[in-house]
Amino acid sequence: MIVMGIETSCDETSVSLVKDGKTVLSNAVLSQIDIHKEYGGVVPEIASREHVKGITLVFDQAMKQAKIDYSAIDLVAVTAGPGLIGSLLIGVNAAKVIAMNYQLPLIGVQHITGHIYANHIEHDMKFPLLALVVSGGHTELVLMREHFDFVKLGETQDDAVGEAYDKIARIFGLAYPGGPQVDKLAQSGKDTMNFPRPMIDSHDYNFSFSGLKSHVINQYHNQRQRQETISIENYCRSFQEAVTDVVVKKTEIAKNEYRVKQVIVAGGVAANKGLRAKMQATITDVPVYFPALQYCTDNAAMIAVAGYFKYQKRPVSDLMDLNGSSRLELV
Ligand code: KG4
Ligand code: ZN
Repeated sequence: MIVMGIETSCDETSVSLVKDGKTVLSNAVLSQIDIHKEYGGVVPEIASREHVKGITLVFDQAMKQAKIDYSAIDLVAVTAGPGLIGSLLIGVNAAKVIAMNYQLPLIGVQHITGHIYANHIEHDMKFPLLALVVSGGHTELVLMREHFDFVKLGETQDDAVGEAYDKIARIFGLAYPGGPQVDKLAQSGKDTMNFPRPMIDSHDYNFSFSGLKSHVINQYHNQRQRQETISIENYCRSFQEAVTDVVVKKTEIAKNEYRVKQVIVAGGVAANKGLRAKMQATITDVPVYFPALQYCTDNAAMIAVAGYFKYQKRPVSDLMDLNGSSRLELV
């Protein structure tokens, strides 16, 4: 079964073709990062316009790479939310056009389920499993007892991990998105700042990163005002250690409580070197998986994989009813 995935929820226009929920035949991604960089973050109005400009090109790229014809496609899966509404609508409408034209079933996919299913490309899921979702918009621990059965155990009460990374990076003068650069600088820094580990002993699976973010920013401003010598590398490393201590500890506790067979990490921050190393070093009794780097950040292959499994469990979407939704829970 060949699924076409379409993803336009934020600043990546992506179309992918995936066979049997596993084999990626193509994954074309057109990133708008260079355009949004100028503004220090994603500008929604510009994002939707860029999706409109790029999407037909990305369709062509994906079809060419996969070396198949539209008649070979069995299902169209598209990100329906959450995300920027103007951006989502471009993908949803493109998906409807393909589905209508080629008389194909259409399925709307929730973006986070896509991030989770990115892991299935390389490692088959074994249930029950625990997914730590760490992206620019989400931070949550999710228990899965079977395919497309999601129980959210806890989530951030304020900033997502990626968001906190990007905000401190901006203060340090690093270009958007700052997460990867903070990660890189952290490699040569030391954990000297003793930053707080928010909610590490809270006895639940919720998180909070906005206080830590403000603490880092305030300390940085104070040191600059006092004209003290500042090591950005040490700031980055200390922040990274604080964040990863919290998410790894909560993941470990949930892993024990729910006796899961696997731990998987999903979302853009799953690319983080420090997180990968700490998670692997801490959880050793069950396998810990991360998606390949190109499937950590937004891409359509993960949407195609999630669509494939959703199709086995849920009714398809109605061509008339399917809509983009800026807020959409795990479904
Ligand atoms: O999943 P994603 O592409 O978009 C959302 O659905 O939000 O995640 C993007 C986020 C950004 O905040 C980016 O800074 C962060 O993932 N990110 C990283 C790294 N690579 C991407 N954060 C920390 N370390 C990284 N290596
Ligand atoms: Zn994402």
